[in-house]
Amino acid sequence: MLIKLKYCITTICACALIACAKEQKPIEVSSPGNVNKITFSLSNNGIPQYQVLHGETQVLNPSEMGFVFKDADSLYKNFEIVNIEEKSFDNTWTQVWGEKKEIRNHYNELKVELKEKGTKNRKLNIEFRAFDDGVAFRYVFPEQGIKDSIFIMDELTTFSLSDDGKAWWIPAYGEQRYEYLFKDSPVSTLDTVHTPLTIESKNGLALSFHEANLVDFASTTLAHTKETTLKTDLVPWADGVKVRTTKSFTTPWRTLQIGEKPTDLITSYLILNLNEPNKIEDTSWIKPFKYMGIWWAMHIGKYTFWEGEKQGATTKHAEEYIDFAEKEGIDHLLIEGWNKGWTPDWYKNAMHQFSFTNEADNFDLETVTDYAAKHNVRIIGYHETGSNIDNYLKQIDSAFALYNKVGIHDVKIGHVGSLLKMKEWHHGQFGVNYFRYVLEKAAEYHLTVLYHEPIKDTGERRTFPNMMAREGARGQEYNAWSEGNPPSYTTILPFTRLLSGPMDFTAGILDVEVKQGYPGRRVHSTAAKQLALLVTVFSPIQMLADLPENYEGQPAFQFLKEVPTNWEDTKILNGEIGSYITTVRKDINSDDWYLGSMTNEKARDFDIPLSFLDENATYEAQIYADSEGTDETHNPDAIAISKKKVTTSNVLKLHLGASGGTAIRFKKLN
Ligand code: NOJ
Repeated sequence: MLIKLKYCITTICACALIACAKEQKPIEVSSPGNVNKITFSLSNNGIPQYQVLHGETQVLNPSEMGFVFKDADSLYKNFEIVNIEEKSFDNTWTQVWGEKKEIRNHYNELKVELKEKGTKNRKLNIEFRAFDDGVAFRYVFPEQGIKDSIFIMDELTTFSLSDDGKAWWIPAYGEQRYEYLFKDSPVSTLDTVHTPLTIESKNGLALSFHEANLVDFASTTLAHTKETTLKTDLVPWADGVKVRTTKSFTTPWRTLQIGEKPTDLITSYLILNLNEPNKIEDTSWIKPFKYMGIWWAMHIGKYTFWEGEKQGATTKHAEEYIDFAEKEGIDHLLIEGWNKGWTPDWYKNAMHQFSFTNEADNFDLETVTDYAAKHNVRIIGYHETGSNIDNYLKQIDSAFALYNKVGIHDVKIGHVGSLLKMKEWHHGQFGVNYFRYVLEKAAEYHLTVLYHEPIKDTGERRTFPNMMAREGARGQEYNAWSEGNPPSYTTILPFTRLLSGPMDFTAGILDVEVKQGYPGRRVHSTAAKQLALLVTVFSPIQMLADLPENYEGQPAFQFLKEVPTNWEDTKILNGEIGSYITTVRKDINSDDWYLGSMTNEKARDFDIPLSFLDENATYEAQIYADSEGTDETHNPDAIAISKKKVTTSNVLKLHLGASGGTAIRFKKLN
């Protein structure tokens, strides 16, 4: 991994600041460009408080901090400051893969060491970081001779917003985990919601609350407490304890990204910057890719996951898909339902016992992987755990060893079910540790991981770049068997769920009316919008989800075959949450740029200045647009393909039909 060794660290002498601490004056840390400022103080009772400003604008009013423990007094008052340290940091690091190659990590840090006055004398440190694109802080409860286990029953951190902005939210503690349609409502009316939580403030700022570097801790949701105040609401274990630990603990970073407009949030890399650097020395085995799958056919009812007449995962089907993938140059193929344990009722009974080494009837793993290898296609393994974690972990080593043996390098792992082991939330400390354990184990076996029904992303792909993508929201599959995702949904995702990291959305459906599917079920977009999604939704692995017969002979398939999944740079040209977005990305392996633009149920026209293109160069814009008169219900599959020579000084006119989109490849000619 390339790391630019340009560090700049200044530590301000602690004792100089002790005097200031004794006077209990607020202590401040501003971001390098003086954009955001955090102020920390102790109130009269020694209660820690912080507030946040963006320029002159108050973002967070004084907000609270602290913990409630089981069998020990709460830790939130009667503190004094015993030490303060300040530091500046500036370093540019290179992503193994990503939406942008080089990431600058530039912040000013303030560490405050607190001690309880009186006899208890317990210590608590708080580390604040101010970036130009937001702020973050975490608690460190240092080792201090505590012999018993520590049970955290509550974290008292609040975020007291200065106004009642519009929040884009999904509910926490729902049976469908993170798979809900987003709603927008004033902060003051929220109940308990998941993060990332995006808020359009009345003062004009765009905010996103989330967390980073979630390791061995419960993930947090946000609960509305009063007026415009939200509070961390750690997801509990089945017995109500929020976090179990011994001796000491460090919380994840509590993060607040701040943008002048919502599109700024998308190109903020604050979450990644707050994660630990890459721990995998040799990353040569970790490669972005595109894939097809014996998958959509199961979701639309053409095939079944289970053995029988309509069984999807047969050796014969696999070979047919491999032939097609080879012909079209798609290098990976996912095969679900290849193993024993699938029944028509599989998702209703989380106690079912999947085998991760025994093949289904009519499917021979080695025959398929050998055939794939001969035809330059790699098979992606699949493990549906049904959230029966005990059953999975018993088999995980033999399952991963089998994949090593047959040359499988990538594994998708599913966790259908409302609770892991039928009792623990996917996003409590148990789930957090389970998902990390499997990821690290996969790294030992040189397997890249795609999680479905995952713990939310908090940037761990920086530390373990074999963590390729995850679901963690309603994906395309909802269009196959439910009322589906409305057109606005995909224009909300980039400003909400996608802020946390790559999503396996599974776009690229060209037969949006799903003619072989269930009556009344369809994809709520035009086909051109399906192409645009490959650019607007970032993931280093992208599925081309449609059936081979729907791609066969389709000129628009060319875009899906060519669009990369690993980028040098990303820019967001326009966007309004829930309405539209236009994203451009530069290919990491060439000088070409790609554009994806998409809209909700409203048709739109955009003038797009091409100033992102290189100067003194000519490009061929290969444009895939909604045909004239095309929208979700009129001729939705029709894509008009045109070509045009353009330079950086041109302005391109785009027309997006209702629920439509445009995708463009800018191929550099000189
Ligand atoms: C839900 C996942 O999201 C989907 O991709 C998978 O095909 C099914 N579960 C079956 O495991």
